[in-house]
Amino acid sequence: MRELNKRVAVVTGAASGIGLAMAERFAADGMSLVMADIEASVLDAAVDRVSAHGAEVLSAVVDVSDAAAVENLARQTYERFGAAHVLCNNAGVGGGGAQATLTVAEWDWVLGVNLHGVIHGIASFLPRMVASGEDGHIVNTASMAGHVAFGGMGPYNASKYAVVGLSESLFHELGGTNIGVSVLCPGWVNTRIGESSRNRPMSVPERMSRPEDAARAAYITQVLADGLAPSAIADLVHDAIVGDKFWIFSHPDMMPGIRQRADEILAGRNPGTGSGDVTKLG
Ligand code: NAI
Repeated sequence: MRELNKRVAVVTGAASGIGLAMAERFAADGMSLVMADIEASVLDAAVDRVSAHGAEVLSAVVDVSDAAAVENLARQTYERFGAAHVLCNNAGVGGGGAQATLTVAEWDWVLGVNLHGVIHGIASFLPRMVASGEDGHIVNTASMAGHVAFGGMGPYNASKYAVVGLSESLFHELGGTNIGVSVLCPGWVNTRIGESSRNRPMSVPERMSRPEDAARAAYITQVLADGLAPSAIADLVHDAIVGDKFWIFSHPDMMPGIRQRADEILAGRNPGTGSGDVTKLG
């Protein structure tokens, strides 16, 4: 999809971090925006930032883990703009802890947002995009954690590996059509992902932190603060859409982890310590 000017972009998780940066970048490219997020209290300010670029914005408070809510978002989008050209299934939450200590509700929350949120976006928007016959592009936000697993990040790893897998499958399905697909796999980015509990549903009580959880959280807080600016990720996403590139990686220094994992698999070796502990990365 070469031309973004005067087209429509839908971004979930658009009130903060990478989603907000993508919305701002698309607005600067002349696109109209649909900004969806669960966090109503900050969505208005995010919309103001994006509108300041001159973009027409439809904002919606949406829980992407709710299929009916995402279907309603698609309906609203087509009522208002008559099209969705770029769809960024981006909303996500960080969630972790040793699997021996996790509750099923914690698994369901992370998988509900990070995996089913993407599935719902595809289920509600893709048929409409195909039917329109117009050019389009879908960007699913995964992570480096969709390629390399870390101890203490089971639900997050599971959700992101799944997003990589379904995105590759979608790429094969849409090959030769006018709808492109990209999967975004960043390393550390300076966002509020480390504070994901702010959007934790009432049904998923805050977990009792164990010392190792606290150490992991402190490490992640630091590397996120030192991470890339979200605007740098938004620029990569823009380039992937107009250049029709599937893989979007942002951290060359983390790529050896993917090779190490592939080597281990091919050699039949057990997962190495380098890729086994998030605090040993980067
Ligand atoms: P962020 O916390 O700044 O933004 C995430 C947004 O998603 C927030 O505005 C939040 O309110 C929204 N959200 C959370 N639950 C939602 C739900 N149920 N329905 C709708 N919106 C919901 O974090 P960030 O980093 O911008 O996250 C965006 C995506 O990037 C996520 O999928 C995350 O997993 C991914 N990612 C982030 C990395 C990082 O280092 N920050 C690295 C790799 C991937």
